[in-house]
Amino acid sequence: MCGIVGILGGGDVASGLIEGLQRLEYRGYDSAGIATVADGRLDRRRAVGKLARLREVVAKDPLPGAVGIGHTRWATHGRPTTANAHPHTGLRVAVVHNGIIENFARLREALTAKGVRFESETDTETIAQAMGQALAEGQNPRDAFEGTLARLEGAFALAVLFEDEPDTLYCARRGSPLAIGRGVGASEGEMYVGSDAYALAPFTNRVTYLADGDWAAVTRRGFEVFGEDGLPAKRTEQISDAAAALVDKGEHRHFMAKEIHEQPEVVGHTISAYLDPVARRVTLPEGGLDFGRIDKLTLSACGTAYYAGLIAKYWFETYAKLPVEADIASELRYRDVPYMPGGAALFVSQSGETADTLAALKDAKAAGQQTCAVVNVPESTMAREADAIYPTHAGPEIGVASTKAFTCQLATLACLAIGAGVARGVLSREEEERLVGALLEVPRHLAEALAMDEALRDLAHEMSGARDVLYLGRGVSFPLAMEGALKLKEISYIHAEGYAAGELKHGPIALIDEAVPVIVLAPKDALFEKTVSNMQEVMARGGKCCLISDEAGLAEAARGGELWGRVPVPSLPEGRLTGLLAPLIYAVPVQLLAYHAAVAKGTDVDQPRNLAKSVTVE
Ligand code: F6R
Repeated sequence: MCGIVGILGGGDVASGLIEGLQRLEYRGYDSAGIATVADGRLDRRRAVGKLARLREVVAKDPLPGAVGIGHTRWATHGRPTTANAHPHTGLRVAVVHNGIIENFARLREALTAKGVRFESETDTETIAQAMGQALAEGQNPRDAFEGTLARLEGAFALAVLFEDEPDTLYCARRGSPLAIGRGVGASEGEMYVGSDAYALAPFTNRVTYLADGDWAAVTRRGFEVFGEDGLPAKRTEQISDAAAALVDKGEHRHFMAKEIHEQPEVVGHTISAYLDPVARRVTLPEGGLDFGRIDKLTLSACGTAYYAGLIAKYWFETYAKLPVEADIASELRYRDVPYMPGGAALFVSQSGETADTLAALKDAKAAGQQTCAVVNVPESTMAREADAIYPTHAGPEIGVASTKAFTCQLATLACLAIGAGVARGVLSREEEERLVGALLEVPRHLAEALAMDEALRDLAHEMSGARDVLYLGRGVSFPLAMEGALKLKEISYIHAEGYAAGELKHGPIALIDEAVPVIVLAPKDALFEKTVSNMQEVMARGGKCCLISDEAGLAEAARGGELWGRVPVPSLPEGRLTGLLAPLIYAVPVQLLAYHAAVAKGTDVDQPRNLAKSVTVE
């Protein structure tokens, strides 16, 4: 979604604002803009496209001023044009905004009736114009801000700069995250506002997160926060480690490549948070779900996180005999779900801010379910809302296409499923030891799988010429097939679908011809032979298949005819353990294929068109 930065600086802040926005560009990148006050005059610069365009505009036409706000946009209301880019202005006020103002049409109508003229199609301009109108009617900036805030419906984060009060930044959060940073050392006396700690990382690691419903007045001397009830509130300052994680690509050409290659390490960190390697036990944190007493688990998320949840459904059923219902959050939240007493609901999210997932979580909680969230951002709204959290330890994920967060979600969910199996008396001590032992090997297998990076390049180049690609899998490999298809379409813009291999002959097989590559995910698990039979049905119809399996699987399948592609994956332990490990390890070739296909096509791998990293609107 959109990203927000604000700075009360010691000198000109334009370059600092752009630097902060750079850290947020992964959130949205349709257009960007900044506004400052200098010599008592509010002014702004805006540009359509990536931040580099704004940088050019500011280089040509500099923007002085020691106080300013900035924004990088992911369009919701209104196309990505300069007129629709933030900051939006009303009379003597500029506003940047992330989220949606649901009653903007009504507010706009009322303001138009008073003679206010709008210059954009956005909901945000309504906020700026409402504040400007309040100033015109004689209110001071603080009253104009507070009064307008009270009239807004929806979920949003705001930062506001008034021409008449250039020593103060006003900000508010309802639904979308916002943090205040305090300058220390060389930047002592400077204050910052940002959508997350990454935006603030170039300036400070002293970060205070606003709680939902808060608004704040920030000056160079400090800040006052007011809670949902309008009363002064105290929020605790934290030392953020976002700077440590910041954010360069290392030896890689893209963040996505870097993040794919980080997987052995971050999955290792994640596993070690939930497993005792010496005792070979699962060690789930205190205060989590009481799996022994749960009758049913509802599992929900969006996109890649949903596919992680869907894989976990198989695991919870297999290892814990726990009934699981899984649904995408944008559906779950609007269904009349008959939540039963004794149920729990688990939500999976990298950002912890996805609007649909958050709403589904709140509904489940209101319906009396125990709730928990598997999240990568521990300060996120979901982390605060859920009764229990299970952090993934992927570190910041900057590439818009999720890779390492996905495998860390899988690692966490695998530990939870085994923990649930133990708590429910389904798994014996020996089985727990075997499963934990197998999970401890995952980082090593991931490192081996990454060695095929180069080898996959040629295959991916060939695939990049296709118009459509199908991915097939059974069991735990079915959600991974959907994840593979999602990864390919989002970064290479090639149309792709993931199907359950057994479902192909019920319709999709009609798509098969020699121009449609079919990627078959077939780990040597109990379903291997069945998947290979489905692959042969495709080959018998002239389809070109690429098989992803281990050497033994590839050798076995080769007897059935000539494969178009062979991707050898490290062999995994037999039987039940393959079903646990395969989704984690087979994720690597799936990600690399998409990555290299996108590079071959020359798309913007880290910031694919139309997407945003954290989707805080429904
Ligand atoms: C795809 C991708 C998205 C996210 C989805 C949920 O690569 O990243 O499908 O998985 O938008 O986001 P989070 O996990 O932040 O809730």
